[in-house]
Amino acid sequence: MARPVPTPSSQAGLRALKALLRERHPLAALRVFHTETGNVFRIRLGNFRPIILVGPQAARFVLVDAYEHFRWRNEYDPVTELLRHGVLVEDGTTHDTLREIMMPPLHPKRFPGYVTTLLRRTDQVSAGWEDEAVVDMLVEMRKVTLLNLLDAIYGVDFTEPMRVLWSPILTLIRHISPGLWMFWRGAPAPGVAEARRRVDGYLYELIRARRAALQDGSAAPDDLLGQLIVAGLDDELIRDQLLTILIAGHDTNTALLAWSWYLLGMHPEAMRRAQQEVDEQLGDQVPDAEQLAQLRYLGWVIREALRLYPPIHLGSRVAAEDLEFDGYHIPAGHRVIYSIYLTQRDATSWPDPDVFDPERHARGTQQVPFAWLAFGGGRRNCLGAGFGQLEARAVLARLLQTFELRLVHTAVHPHMGATLEPRPGVLMRVRRRKHAQPAPVGMMVQ
Ligand code: HEM
Repeated sequence: MARPVPTPSSQAGLRALKALLRERHPLAALRVFHTETGNVFRIRLGNFRPIILVGPQAARFVLVDAYEHFRWRNEYDPVTELLRHGVLVEDGTTHDTLREIMMPPLHPKRFPGYVTTLLRRTDQVSAGWEDEAVVDMLVEMRKVTLLNLLDAIYGVDFTEPMRVLWSPILTLIRHISPGLWMFWRGAPAPGVAEARRRVDGYLYELIRARRAALQDGSAAPDDLLGQLIVAGLDDELIRDQLLTILIAGHDTNTALLAWSWYLLGMHPEAMRRAQQEVDEQLGDQVPDAEQLAQLRYLGWVIREALRLYPPIHLGSRVAAEDLEFDGYHIPAGHRVIYSIYLTQRDATSWPDPDVFDPERHARGTQQVPFAWLAFGGGRRNCLGAGFGQLEARAVLARLLQTFELRLVHTAVHPHMGATLEPRPGVLMRVRRRKHAQPAPVGMMVQ
């Protein structure tokens, strides 16, 4: 007979509260619960009472073994209300069909064509940095990832629209982040309707213009927007996919890049090594996809940043029926969360789990599948995992090539927004090193 899922004791609750106050983020409290209660426990925050699962076996259970017995979509979550029928929040055959349509533009064979765009947009943002100025990499990387995504994946220049849509996009991201809605259904959401109206207006105009360009033959249908149109989706459904990719595809990489800069800034020896690798292998040349893939140390830095601060630090599901995991009963209809953060900081899989050690990835420490799962896994793994890692390599390598960067404010804590962000920001002093060759201008993605 399966046991009920335990709730942490009141002593654990007290210790969790102390950890929360000390470290200023709820993940510290979750960590206490995990240590004290084990890989399966339930938290209670008013009506929000998810079952938390931790560890590679638990992740495999949710993502692969019991995949068919979980649903992603939770009608009450703001993300579902915002993305409506986006691939991220759909289940079953609707999900599978949308995923199939959206895969080709995100396939690695398209990557060589994206690199110039990624480098050029990085240069565009860094061109605005005064020498010796202090810039916030959390903000700057968001500019880079928005410009990159819209250019590479949708084939549009987002420079002007970004000025107008910056604040609405942040409002929508805040709206789908953990917040009041978890305890209070129908909690007020100031500014969200207006933000949505403005972002939707932009997306519908994009769809209209592309339909027209496809009809008069002035555009080819092989980017993501083109694929959605030729697949016969209506405007509403296309908007849902565009907004899904707009949010899922830039907010995550913003966090990854900002954390990577923070970690490199906190570990000057790693910064020096990454820069030396870039200098030795790229010189002042504009790299291509193959050269970027050969930056081994930089690749380990990215992987380690994703382990310590996974931008998506959890996956949320609903049990579609009564289930059993590791002798515990998971009742139908209950929310289940697999914790990427706790799994990737678990000493069982990761010696010295809190230490930033990029080379652990060279040593192949990760033997157990699902001990590292920053992109999820199974049939719902991240659709943009390859693109995201390509972008991280391109942006980091380009800025290391062209700037010296020094962290000037080290007091940073992980903030649980839609992604795990370094707050209050990553302030770095930047000094231009040399003028590496500019990335060719005007090369649009095929
Ligand atoms: C560092 C970058 C990124 C990280 C860490 C990340 C992480 C993840 C994770 C963990 C999931 C699975 C969530 C779950 O199991 O519930 C996911 C799904 C998804 N990601 Fe990413 N992501 C990243 C970048 C991107 C990019 C660049 C795109 C698009 C261009 C993207 C699009 C998606 C989509 C559409 C899904 C839903 C897939 C499905 O349900 O079939 N992601 N991502």
